[in-house]
This record gives sequence, structure tokens and C-alpha cells, in this order.
Amino acid sequence: MSNPVCIVTGANSGIGEVTATALAKQGATVVMLCRNPAKAEAARQRIVAQTGNPKVDVLLVDFASQAQVRRVAAEFMAKYPRLHVLVNNAGFLAGDQRQTTEDGIEATLAVNHLGYFLLTACLWPVLTATAEHSAVAVRVVNVASEAHRFPVYRFRLDDLQFARRYSGIGAYCASKMANIMFTHQLAQRIQARGLNLTANCLHPGGVASNFGEAASGWFGWVMKLAKPFFISSEQGARTSIYLATSPQVEGVSGRYFNHCRPVAPAKLATDAQATARLWAESERLVGTPFLS
Ligand SMILES: NC(=O)c1ccc[n+]([C@@H]2O[C@H](COP(=O)([O-])OP(=O)(O)OC[C@H]3O[C@@H](n4cnc5c(N)ncnc54)[C@H](OP(=O)(O)O)[C@@H]3O)[C@@H](O)[C@H]2O)c1
Repeated sequence: MSNPVCIVTGANSGIGEVTATALAKQGATVVMLCRNPAKAEAARQRIVAQTGNPKVDVLLVDFASQAQVRRVAAEFMAKYPRLHVLVNNAGFLAGDQRQTTEDGIEATLAVNHLGYFLLTACLWPVLTATAEHSAVAVRVVNVASEAHRFPVYRFRLDDLQFARRYSGIGAYCASKMANIMFTHQLAQRIQARGLNLTANCLHPGGVASNFGEAASGWFGWVMKLAKPFFISSEQGARTSIYLATSPQVEGVSGRYFNHCRPVAPAKLATDAQATARLWAESERLVGTPFLS
């Protein structure tokens, strides 16, 4: 791919920053989608200094706000006519107090799943326009997690927002299940339309980033005790970078990766009916039809 344009969300720390750095090192134009202007600018400067690539830009967005997601996608498309790689990475683990966003949606679902869904939907015009003129497939990479398998929750399509029996870790695990279900459906819909795009997702590993700092209760303790055994953000970003750039995955779509290898996710993550229902519910929650 010559002169690719890439978006990395949540690129001011951890896995996202390392991914953005690797893409910049390879000469790409990298657009960092971040919510905190000071943190984003500091990271942008680190990336430019480390890579010598000045084509690193910041656009501000809080994924908890659907209006901001729509606005940032429009801002991106006004500035950049092409988008070759979209890495949906921004995510968080909420505390044990259930919170809702300005759109009235439980915050974990809103940021971790609907953030990926709505941003991809809003950028679809530029992704498909790029795909039409590209010799290689345009890539969507979604950062998910092995947490989708944790037995601490039940994924309930009839209670995606944890209105009943909320827990921060439960909502997080469900959002990561939703990332894989979204990737599966997206890949199917891309294939049905014969588009020159791929969509894959991944588990980065247990990574000693800023992730989980706000975790409370028993899971907060688990995070604190486990952190010394976690891998670095550099190691954790390997599969994201692999899926965003490697010729080895050219044409591969709809898969879930761990350690740069495709693995089978939990059964539900690729269940045709469940993933289609999640898609329809996501469209309803963001009020935007997408590939339907
Ligand atoms: N660390 C792990 O062990 C692990 C394991 C499996 C999966 N993951 C996944 O990996 C991804 C990256 O996490 P990380 O480990 O690199 O953690 P991190 O260092 O905390 O990075 C998360 C990034 O997401 C951004 N973000 C969070 N909420 C946002 C919002 N509402 N709007 C905009 N940006 C937001 C953060 O911005 P701020 O700096 O402004 O908060 C930060 O840039 C997440 O999707 C996470 O679920 C992590």
C-alpha cells in the first residue's frame, strides 16, 4: 500500500499508541482519534519524535457521545479523501456504579461497542471509496479480548445495557463479545457485497497499560495482583499491527486473532442469529442503518 492513511482510536496510550507509532514508522499518515487534547498532543509529539514521520494528526472525540462520533467522522472525511486502515481500539473498564451516556446508553456498551460500530458506519463512505481504488483490501481491525469468554457474566441480547444485575466487569466482557460479533457480521456483509475490504478482530494479551486503573472491588484486586505478570504495550500491540499491515492476512476476513494467529472465539460470537440481532439492535441504538 503506498501512502496509506490510517486511523487509530484511543491512540494516546497503551496498545493504541504503540500501534499508531508502528504505522507511522512504516510511513503511513496516522490520524489519532482521542478524547483528551493534552494527552493526545503529548502522544502525537512522542510518535513524531520516535518515527521522524510528521504526518501524524489528532482529531478529538469522546466515544461516549454519538454526536461527537458523527462529527469526528465528518471532520476526518473533509480532511482526508482516503482511509486504508481503521483500528478501533479505544476502550475502558467501568467501575461498579452503572453509568449512562448523554445518549442514555450504558457507558461500556456505548464506548466499547457502539463506538466501534458507529465510527465504522460513519466512515463507510470513505472506506468503500478507498477500497474501490485500492489494489489491496482496506482493513478494519477491532481490538476485542479473551474477556469475552469469562464466566462472570451472561451475554444477554435482551439486556445489552445491563439494566438488571449490572457489574463493571460483566459489562466489559459483554462489550468485548460484541466486538467479535460485530466483526463477524461486518465481514459477512462485506463478503455478500463483494467489497474490497476485510474486518478482523483480536485479543492483545493481558497488557500492562493504563487499562483497568479504575477497576474496583474484587476485579480491581485481580488487576493489581496480575499487573506484574502482564506483557508490555509493545508486545500487546503486535497482533493489532499484524492485522493492520501484514501481507500475510491480505484477503483474510471475519477472524479472531490471538498471538497473530486465528483462533476460534466462543460459539456465540459467530452465531448467525445472535450476531444479526446484535447488529439490528446496534443500528437501533445509534439510529443509523448500516449495511442492512
Ligand atoms: N490491557 C489489557 O490487558 C487488554 C486486554 C484485552 C483487551 N484490551 C483492549 O485493548 C484496547 C486498548 O486498551 P489499552 O490496554 O491500551 O488501555 P489504555 O492504555 O487505557 O488505552 C485506552 C485508550 O482508549 C481511550 N478511551 C477510553 N475511553 C474513551 C472514550 N470514551 N473516548 C475516547 N477515547 C477513549 C483512552 O483515552 P484516555 O487516555 O483519554 O482515557 C486510551 O487512549 C481496549 O479496547 C481494551 O479493551 C486490553
